[in-house]
Amino acid sequence: MSGERRRAHRSFAAVDVRLRNLCHSYGPHAGRAALAISALDVASCSQLCVVGSSGSGKSTLLSILAGVLVPTSGQVLLDGQELFERSEVERDRFRARHIGCVFQTLNLLQGLSVLENLTLAQRFAGIQPALARRQALELLDRLGLAERAGARPAQLSLGEQQRVAIARAVCKRPALVLADEPTASLDDQNARAAVELLREQCSRSTLLVASHDQRLLERFENVLPLPQLAPGQAG
Ligand SMILES: Nc1ncnc2c1ncn2[C@@H]1O[C@H](COP(=O)(O)OP(=O)(O)OP(=O)(O)O)[C@@H](O)[C@H]1O
Ligand SMILES: [Mg+2]
Repeated sequence: MSGERRRAHRSFAAVDVRLRNLCHSYGPHAGRAALAISALDVASCSQLCVVGSSGSGKSTLLSILAGVLVPTSGQVLLDGQELFERSEVERDRFRARHIGCVFQTLNLLQGLSVLENLTLAQRFAGIQPALARRQALELLDRLGLAERAGARPAQLSLGEQQRVAIARAVCKRPALVLADEPTASLDDQNARAAVELLREQCSRSTLLVASHDQRLLERFENVLPLPQLAPGQAG
């Protein structure tokens, strides 16, 4: 049985993340590197909040970890395996099964209902449909969205859509959860509920959150500050 097949049979197998000499520049005319991290180790099952001012590279880092953005140089090791040794198709498959993402732009599928957004993610992760539906409805209920399960994302407020995006990221029990500004549009009460849910649902996943929201930041013991890089600086 291949490593990928074996992993598919393990639920909640958190990964450890190691970055070495990671650098990303958006092309030769960017003027400066968007991200430079010489070394970072995130143990499996740990929870890390990445902080930094606007433009410091938080979304760039999360996009690289999701396997969506190919870094200019450096290593991204998940459980010791280089993520970018996989082809784009393999990375897409790996992400569908093992990585839950809350994108800063949310990226909910507008043609599907709220519930279907969750159950589709679960189906790609190999979760059996009846169980998937039950868990998805439970999560939506926890986030105060039970009544909106049949609605389309566009019929929800931005804060409600943000909670759906969080539920979609965790509902498939991923090994790694990447959440980019997951509380940006939430009021205090909903932000608290969302952070609690994220942390609780990730008790057996590795969680990386990017945020400059103090309400979220103070709930994390491990914080990684990203400096704003100067022109010509590569870390
Ligand atoms: N697609 C892109 N093309 C060119 N430059 C980009 C692109 N995406 C980001 N950048 C640049 O890379 C740098 C880091 O951007 P990034 O979005 O990672 O920052 P961030 O910390 O997530 O900011 P914010 O808090 O505003 O979301 C910025 O200088 C930004 O202008
Ligand atoms: Mg960002």
